[in-house]
This record gives sequence, structure tokens and C-alpha cells, in this order.
Amino acid sequence: MTIEPHGGRLIDRVVHGAAKVELLDRAAKKLQRLKLTPQEVYDIELIATGAFSPLEGFMCKADYDSVVDTMRLENGVVWSLPVVLAAGNKEADNLKEGEDIALEDGSGTVLAVLHLQEKFHYDKEKEALEVYGTKDDKHPGVNRLYNSGDVLLGGKVSVVNRPKHNDFIKYRLDPADTRELFHKKGWRRVVGFQTRNPVHRAHEYIQKCALEVVDALLLHPLVGETKKDDIPADVRMSCYEVLLENYYPRDRVALSVFPAAMRYAGPKEAIFHAIVRKNYGCTHFIVGRDHAGVGSYYGSFDAHYIFDEFDRDDIGIVPLFFDHTFYCKSCYGMASFKTCPHGSEHHVALSGTEVRKMLVEGQMPPSSFTRPEIAKILSAHYRCESEQHK
Ligand code: ADX
Repeated sequence: MTIEPHGGRLIDRVVHGAAKVELLDRAAKKLQRLKLTPQEVYDIELIATGAFSPLEGFMCKADYDSVVDTMRLENGVVWSLPVVLAAGNKEADNLKEGEDIALEDGSGTVLAVLHLQEKFHYDKEKEALEVYGTKDDKHPGVNRLYNSGDVLLGGKVSVVNRPKHNDFIKYRLDPADTRELFHKKGWRRVVGFQTRNPVHRAHEYIQKCALEVVDALLLHPLVGETKKDDIPADVRMSCYEVLLENYYPRDRVALSVFPAAMRYAGPKEAIFHAIVRKNYGCTHFIVGRDHAGVGSYYGSFDAHYIFDEFDRDDIGIVPLFFDHTFYCKSCYGMASFKTCPHGSEHHVALSGTEVRKMLVEGQMPPSSFTRPEIAKILSAHYRCESEQHK
């Protein structure tokens, strides 16, 4: 038996057959159109496949307000981040509640029909403060919010065309697929790992510590929109392929992509990441240091403390918390502040900037920090990038 989806039922908002033909025809001939942002395109796919269960569309006002104020949907189910569709004032003026609206991607392909239930104004500064913990427009999530339209359009969506992808095809598994995979493999307890950065020894260590206590590991790198200076998803995926080939037990690890945009909402995004991985069938979820953080907006372990605000059953998936991990030269192995008695001078600690500088200059970081195979891939990426900037 796999874990129950969040809210009790795996949502499926994809329309097939005659209903799809009819909706597409209506969209082409009669419906007003709205162009989606890249993040909204990712959200459509995640709603369609049930990754965002129990959401069946974009939030209406009662859910939006409740999520921002209390991290729960109006019906009490835990949900920590708004999932919304924004439009400009002028655009929204032309759209009527009760009507259907065709939602198209950047290339003009209709992806879905929104059954517009409600349009409403919202307080961006309030959302910034409540969800991201700051009103600072240098925060990438807040910046995106401030640049969004002023009106939110709520209602269920019927998805007629899934967004097209040319990359990571064999790694694109919907929640129904991962659930089936876990069932077939007989994995009853699966730990999910969210990541948007290249895999270093610290990541590998916490993944393997977690794997010691469950049946299997779902490596679930986020491949949606990230900020410009994050390493591109294809480079990160190449790192995982090499790592899996050489250092992971193939019969206990699955690699699949998480097609979501990064919000950088720290603790609130940790709750969101956990719940969504429950929908993919994971029973456990790793939350380490500064999960989904950016800059110094959040405390290193705020993403742990936030779980204390809920009952276990409200979240359902079990969080596995990890302290700051590193290689310790005196322990001769990976450790954390929780397990290592030695001072920081014994630890191999490199900042992102230091690692980047080394790799650009063709120097390899120590293998206690990054596996040589990974360093090689990252070095090639950085050198190519610096050539392009010359
Ligand atoms: S994140 O934005 O997706 O959280 P990243 O890919 O760096 O960024 O982290 C993936 C997971 O590994 C997160 O749960 C994060 O907290 C954890 N993590 C990353 N580095 C460390 C570390 N050195 N020690 C402990 N946990 C870490």
C-alpha cells in the first residue's frame, strides 16, 4: 500500500478524448486567451498530474487568504504556498467570472481551460512578508511576486495539452508513475530528496544516511525555473547520472525530475516540497540546512522548526532533519555538528563562491568536498560559461 495523497485523492485534471476535442475547438473559436508565465506553465502541469493534490486549479480568494495567513486551505488542509494565476488590470477587466478562458504557453499553444470562478485583488507586500519573510525586492521570489499582474484569477483548470518537453524525457515521471514504480519494486518506505544545486558530498551523505533507515531513495531534482546564477538543470542531471553509475545501489534509488519553479521561500517551501513529494508517493522527506533558502533571509534551520507548527498527521510525510554536514579531517569521514566533536578548523568547508572560483580556474576541489567525476562536469560547465562571457 502506498501513502495516501495529500487531501486523500490523487487529482487528475487532464482531459482526454471527445471532451478534449470539444474544449480545444471551443478554445480556438470562442474563448478569450491568456498567456501564462513560465512558472504558471509549470504549475499547470503539477496541478494536472496531481503533484499539487488536492488543488484542482488556481486558488480562489478564500484559499489564498487562508494559505497566506495560516498555511492551510480554507478547508483546513495544510498548504503553505499560494498557487495562483495573475493577470494585469486591463486583461482582467475583459474576463468575466463564470466564463471559461483558454490558457496558452509562450508559443501560443493552448494548454488548459480555466473555469474562472473568481477574480480578486491581493496585497503583494503582505504576501511577500508572510510567505517569503521579507519585503525586499532583491529576494527572487518577492521580485517575481512584485512583477506579477495585480489581479488573481481563481478556478479549476482542465488541461488539454500537457506542456511539451524535449529534455529529461526518461526521467519525467508523474505522481501516478512514481507510485506505481514504488509499488512494483516493493518499496514501502521511500525518502524524497529535493535539490536545485549540484550534488556535493554533503548531499550524498544525507541521502545515504536517510537510505540507511528506509527502503529506497527518490532523487528528485527540481528542473523548473531557477535564478540565473543557479547551475542549469542539465548539468545537475549529468552529475546525478555519473554519481548513480558509480556510487549508488541501483536497486534502491530512483532518479526523476521535479518539473516545478523554485520559489526560494525557505521554511514555507520546505513544507510545500514535503507535501508534494508525498503526492509522488514518498513516505519520508529530507530537510537539511537552509532548505530552499537564498541569501541570508532565513535561519539555517527555520525549515526544521516550521514542521513543529503542525501535527504529524496534518503533513503525513515524515520529515528527516539533518544538521549542517561536512567532511571532518579528524573523524576521517563525513559528519555533522550533531555527530562530530571537533572544531570547525578540522572541517572541509568551502563556500559556493570558493568552489566556483576553483572550478573556473581549472582547479579541482578536494574529493572530500566533491567527487572528482562531479568536479569534472562542473568545471567544464564553468569554463564554458566563462568563455562565453569573454
Ligand atoms: S534546495 O534549495 O533545493 O534546498 P540544495 O540543492 O542545496 O538546495 O539542497 C538540497 C537539500 O540538501 C536540502 O534539504 C538542503 O537543506 C540540504 N543540504 C544542502 N547542503 C547541506 C549541508 N551541507 N548540510 C546539510 N544539509 C544540506
